[in-house]
Amino acid sequence: MSQTLPIGDTSFHVRTAGEGSPLVLVHGFPLDHHMWDAVFEPLAEQHQVIAIDLRGFGQSDGYREIVPMEMFADDIAAILDAMEIAEQVNFAGLSMGGYIGWQMWQRHRDRLSRLILLDTRAIADDEVQARARRVAAEAVLSAGMDDVPMNMLPKLLAEGTFRDQPEVVSTMTEMILRQDPRAVAAAQRGMAQRPNVECWLPEITIPTLVISGEHDIISPPAEMKGFAAQIPGAQFVEIPGAGHMVPLEAPAAMCEAVLPFCRDLE
Ligand code: MLT
Repeated sequence: MSQTLPIGDTSFHVRTAGEGSPLVLVHGFPLDHHMWDAVFEPLAEQHQVIAIDLRGFGQSDGYREIVPMEMFADDIAAILDAMEIAEQVNFAGLSMGGYIGWQMWQRHRDRLSRLILLDTRAIADDEVQARARRVAAEAVLSAGMDDVPMNMLPKLLAEGTFRDQPEVVSTMTEMILRQDPRAVAAAQRGMAQRPNVECWLPEITIPTLVISGEHDIISPPAEMKGFAAQIPGAQFVEIPGAGHMVPLEAPAAMCEAVLPFCRDLE
């Protein structure tokens, strides 16, 4: 089921299916909830899956000049309120969705039962990366989305995906092209100012699963394994063959990691 939730001046688009403990799926940048299409139904066999279009992305609106990760997290808490989901949720976020996951832990931890962090980072941008994001934000506002897939896809997908899964390349290209430049610029600016959260890691007390694609060059497995080791009891799984987009490049392997993790602790 797809629904539109009016919250304040913003309409949030949410896709839900299934029954069981809630599993919130939060997409990466510059994408929307369709990023989860290949895992949505398998996960919905055991969970009430809630795939959200973040502020400004997909079919959600609510544009701002800058959207900090804190605002995205507050939006998700408001969406859960609007859906009357009082039960604690399993939270899965990929990359920017993971940056938002840290903020969910910091600001709304009473809403969370488990944390699943895919292809993401705990450290902040350095000055060069942050400046590049601000430049990219201006570029997309003036020139639109046309060049974005060409610039980003080689970093998002493994070489083997280009060779063996052309449908994933076209799905990603189309998804990036349909995003609104205002949302893309606002999220870039928000990511540029996100904090280093490494000092939060030892205090995360809920079960945590960290998943990395073997060939992820944005959030490499060694870096992810390193921050997973700082979260008490966290599990780390590396998915062979995948790049930064595990749910699209290796959906079966992702479900094989996520479903037992959620079930074993129930
Ligand atoms: C993402 O997939 O969300 C982006 O790679 C995050 C980022 O640009 O840091």
